[in-house]
Amino acid sequence: MSKNKVSIIGAGNVGATATYYIAEKVIADLVMVDVAGGMTQAKALDFLHAGPLRGYDVSIAGTDDFARIADSNVVVITAGLPRKPGMDRMDLLKVNADIVKQAARAIVEHAPNAIVIVVSNPLDIMCHVALRSTGFDLRRVVGMAGILDSTRFRYFVAEQLGCALSSVHAMVLGGHGDQMVPLPRLTTVGGVPITELMDAATVARLVDRTRKGGAEIVALLKTGSAYYAPAASVADMVEAVITDRKHLAPCATYVRGEYGIDDLFIGVPVILGKNGVERIIELALTDDERKQLLASADAVRKGVEELNTFFRPT
Ligand code: LAC
Repeated sequence: MSKNKVSIIGAGNVGATATYYIAEKVIADLVMVDVAGGMTQAKALDFLHAGPLRGYDVSIAGTDDFARIADSNVVVITAGLPRKPGMDRMDLLKVNADIVKQAARAIVEHAPNAIVIVVSNPLDIMCHVALRSTGFDLRRVVGMAGILDSTRFRYFVAEQLGCALSSVHAMVLGGHGDQMVPLPRLTTVGGVPITELMDAATVARLVDRTRKGGAEIVALLKTGSAYYAPAASVADMVEAVITDRKHLAPCATYVRGEYGIDDLFIGVPVILGKNGVERIIELALTDDERKQLLASADAVRKGVEELNTFFRPT
């Protein structure tokens, strides 16, 4: 059996850190591609120098040549700009849609059988760009956000209760924005819902902090956005696909009627395996949860409508 291969398009903080986490798990050879070629080569070489000490035995390449992604099992798109002063969201949408489109074209040309994991923001909208520009089967394009939002919620719960991080499991649905939908009812510590372990005001505070988790980091960093937790979330998804782990986790997935939502990428629980999204799990939501999810979907749909005003896949 040939070795697995994972390519990361965009070797900024998220892309490079994801490469590191994946290398440490020794699950695939890695290629980082970035238009800033020298920097990418340097990061790859630096990772390789650390290999004998950290114990990974995979190859890691850094390049500006998109052809190097050839035959990847998984391609992760992290390329894109963060918002700069003076730019509105529409500007970011346009710039990143173009970058993601280029990446998608390279995937079609060089790695036509890959599963595509989208990370660039605005996430749910960039998933639409990747799907349209690759023309791939719906289930082969999946976005990273729900796992990130859920791991933040897990951390806040563990910190609040003083319990092990690994004992906490969380479920956050919806788009990757202020209207994401953390589900306290399905967030558990050792199987016990947090609604049994803390009062409603505390739950509400942690939900709010989860929704603003990315913004809290941006405000502190000042120069960009989070990358350790986003990269760890990417590595979790890549591992699920490469090892065919059938991992149940919330991911941005194209729904066609599930949860009463049509033709939209939105965060819902799925089974992730070697074929990408292998199943969408449709949970029975309470009326309030469903209302929140539909509001989040409306916000994503507005972004898609903005995209439609200028974007053509070809
Ligand atoms: C965040 C950005 C990376 O949530 O989307 O931190």
